[in-house]
Amino acid sequence: MVSNGKYNAAKLALELVKDGMVLGIGSGTTVEIFLNLLGERIREEGLVVYGIPTSYQSYYAAIINGIRVVDLVEHEPELCIDGADQVDAKMNCIKGRGGAMTREKIVAKASRKVVIIVDESKLVEKLSMPVPVEVLPFAYGYVERKLREVGAEVKLRHGSGKVGPVITDNGNFILDCDFGVLEDEDVEKTEESVKTITGIVESGIFPKKMIDSVIAGSLNSARFL
Ligand code: 5RP
Repeated sequence: MVSNGKYNAAKLALELVKDGMVLGIGSGTTVEIFLNLLGERIREEGLVVYGIPTSYQSYYAAIINGIRVVDLVEHEPELCIDGADQVDAKMNCIKGRGGAMTREKIVAKASRKVVIIVDESKLVEKLSMPVPVEVLPFAYGYVERKLREVGAEVKLRHGSGKVGPVITDNGNFILDCDFGVLEDEDVEKTEESVKTITGIVESGIFPKKMIDSVIAGSLNSARFL
């Protein structure tokens, strides 16, 4: 079932897309709705849009919708559109329930502008969900111990449709790390302490400084925060 909040957020973001633009394309169901709506504009208005997808999911959705897939070698995205799992009152985000946070963070950082699109149910006062962390399989045991030392409760993410751990599009494991409630002033520090552990590729903490705008969709409308 399509959430109206996701649909309305995606529809408002669509207005930001201009002919000839290079987009950074996040992952997840909200982004997929955005790509389907963009596909309609491409078919109806004959727009040419280039995109750099961050997962197999958004790669195929981009292709199906007539977006010309390019890469970071030749292009710097003007605008990155991505979803999130939690957005706090200061616009810090946690991402990665879909396991694509490493490429999402690379593409977001490479983009001139980053716009997050969410159903308003994702809005919280303070971040509190477990932080997804992508880790090289070889480093798993070591990284898990180190994450516990910095205060996280750690769970290796298991998949459905396959026994054993979820394997990311980059061939790595995901650890869901519960740090409890993250105050605004702790968000960047937590990201840094996670990133300094050898063997960790990336975390799903997207501090507010990376985000230009958030669009929150509700049942009947959407708004920029
Ligand atoms: C994937 C992500 C997604 O953007 C996030 O999980 C939100 O997904 P959805 O739009 O399906 O709620 O970070 O890694």
